[in-house]
Amino acid sequence: MSDDPREFWDRIYRARDRPHTHRPHPYLVDELTQAEPGTALDLGCGDGANAIWLATQGWTVTAVDVSELALERAAQSAEQAGVAARLRWECADLRDWTTSQTFDLVTALFLHTPLELDYPAVLARAAARANAGATVLVIGHYTLPPWAWDPDDTDGLFSAAELVSALALHAPDWQVRLADEVARTVMHDGQQSSVRDAVLHAVRGRAETSPLAAS
Ligand SMILES: C[S@@+](CC[C@H](N)C(=O)[O-])C[C@H]1O[C@@H](n2cnc3c(N)ncnc32)[C@H](O)[C@@H]1O
Repeated sequence: MSDDPREFWDRIYRARDRPHTHRPHPYLVDELTQAEPGTALDLGCGDGANAIWLATQGWTVTAVDVSELALERAAQSAEQAGVAARLRWECADLRDWTTSQTFDLVTALFLHTPLELDYPAVLARAAARANAGATVLVIGHYTLPPWAWDPDDTDGLFSAAELVSALALHAPDWQVRLADEVARTVMHDGQQSSVRDAVLHAVRGRAETSPLAAS
């Protein structure tokens, strides 16, 4: 196995002849459909389902991933969805990626990799770029479906509470709206399974200033 994340993830995407998923995560949809759109950062966007959905909701999205191939496919899907102008795809390794921009929403969905990645450090750097009133939404695997590479290997998987402390999302600077493991039904090649996702949903600053305050 290559320990270069670009090579590794390009190979994963090359082996797939279709996008991993066209559907945004249901929690993202439930929580953000009513939100006032602004600027968003999506970390490890993959082939773009979540970033593209955000763009269809009016968000201006910077989407970062290490796989050039995933980003090419994401850009094609964004063209087809008619929202390409609202998305900027950035090919970068998040281990050393930084930005001077700030955002109204920071998302990271299933930013998992078998290669070395200091997940809390990457998330903390991104959370530091959240504007006052911004939402940080991190969703990761907590349990894995039977068809995962190694369903029993939970190394590197964090509970939502572990992420809250690793990112030091404490009051009064942060309001944690949800930090829990949430069940989700998943399908793969006609097989159905139930998994639990670690969902961390936090808002920087006071609730009244959140773009979600009205939701
Ligand atoms: C499991 S996929 C999730 C993709 C997408 N967020 C989703 O929910 O479908 C993990 C993604 O993280 C990206 N990734 C892994 N390591 C990375 C790194 N060091 N820098 C940037 N992206 C990385 C991979 O290329 C891949 O697209």
